[in-house]
Amino acid sequence: MTLQKTICHHEFGKPLEVLRLEEVEQREPAPGEVRVRLLAATINPSDYGMIGGSYGRLRELPAVAGREGVGVIDALGRGVSSVGVGARVRFPEEGTWQETACMPAADLLMVPSDVPVDQAAFSFINPPTAYCLLKKIVDLAPGSWVVQNAGNSAVGLSVIQMAKAMGFKTISQVRREELIEPLKALGADHVVVEGSGWPKQVKELTGGEPIQLAFNSIGGASATDQIKVLGDGGTQVTFGGMVGDLVRFPTRFLIFNDVRLVGFWWDKWCQKAGKNGLDEVMSAVYNMMRDGTLKLPVEATYSFAEYEEAFKHDKQPRLGKVLLKP
Ligand SMILES: NC(=O)c1ccc[n+]([C@@H]2O[C@H](COP(=O)([O-])OP(=O)(O)OC[C@H]3O[C@@H](n4cnc5c(N)ncnc54)[C@H](OP(=O)(O)O)[C@@H]3O)[C@@H](O)[C@H]2O)c1
Repeated sequence: MTLQKTICHHEFGKPLEVLRLEEVEQREPAPGEVRVRLLAATINPSDYGMIGGSYGRLRELPAVAGREGVGVIDALGRGVSSVGVGARVRFPEEGTWQETACMPAADLLMVPSDVPVDQAAFSFINPPTAYCLLKKIVDLAPGSWVVQNAGNSAVGLSVIQMAKAMGFKTISQVRREELIEPLKALGADHVVVEGSGWPKQVKELTGGEPIQLAFNSIGGASATDQIKVLGDGGTQVTFGGMVGDLVRFPTRFLIFNDVRLVGFWWDKWCQKAGKNGLDEVMSAVYNMMRDGTLKLPVEATYSFAEYEEAFKHDKQPRLGKVLLKP
């Protein structure tokens, strides 16, 4: 019997209170399945929601934690001939913080071998979300302005780099002045600090051009600022809520400016778009990762045994993802 490490939880709660490093028996792939060995996994805000029991979909307990990771096929079940050992794939979504997991070969998402492992590890949620925000919600003309909060998040950094490549212009809201130069170096047109009164200067920033799209993953005052600067007929897309504060705004923006408030959830988008839609978005993401258009920083890498330090680090001010490797 081969044992493997997993980071799992038997109840919902805060990661540092409920997560456990356990050893369980490694499974052999059943007929039609492959076994995938984890290369690198990500810690994302949605992991906190899934571990805490507040996310849009939850796993049955006890559960292996983690939603995103890249792996390599290390064993084939009977009858599998469509893929071979050594191919790089998305790690099974049932829980990415474990050394191996099995899944049907027919459901694999293939990862090009020329995309660096660390980039591939966080390619499955945040970059495709950024791509959909820019391409699938409003038909933006080249040169259009977009505003976003959490500009230094993985989604935010993807939006900055993709928007530049697509010919859109960005205003990114951040909470720390020290992020202004690094974000500009990645291609941000303007970076503004939350609470600095930046909405009053927005006409100077855009040269009077309207802002057509706003991406809100924070909530509270930061989201209200976006609604105030949107141009006539502009759309705010909410796809995250890093603060629990209500978004308050004067109704005049809905009435006189015809502003639209919509939501986006990548999981639901994938269900609706099906395999063809997913393939289109992922191949756009991988093309950008390959040619260097899109590069996301890694803040730090921890082993499974160091998962508590990884979570403490994840909560510190940072510019990049914290990765877990077995
Ligand atoms: N709906 C979807 O399908 C979907 C898909 C992907 C991501 N998301 C959401 O998008 C957001 C970003 O995800 P990510 O993985 O890109 O994030 P990330 O890289 O982990 O970065 C977290 C970001 O949140 C900011 N933040 C954290 N706590 C905050 C607070 N109390 N007030 C204001 N800002 C705060 C951080 O700013 P500081 O550096 O200043 O702390 C940082 O910019 C999350 O809300 C996530 O759930 C949603």
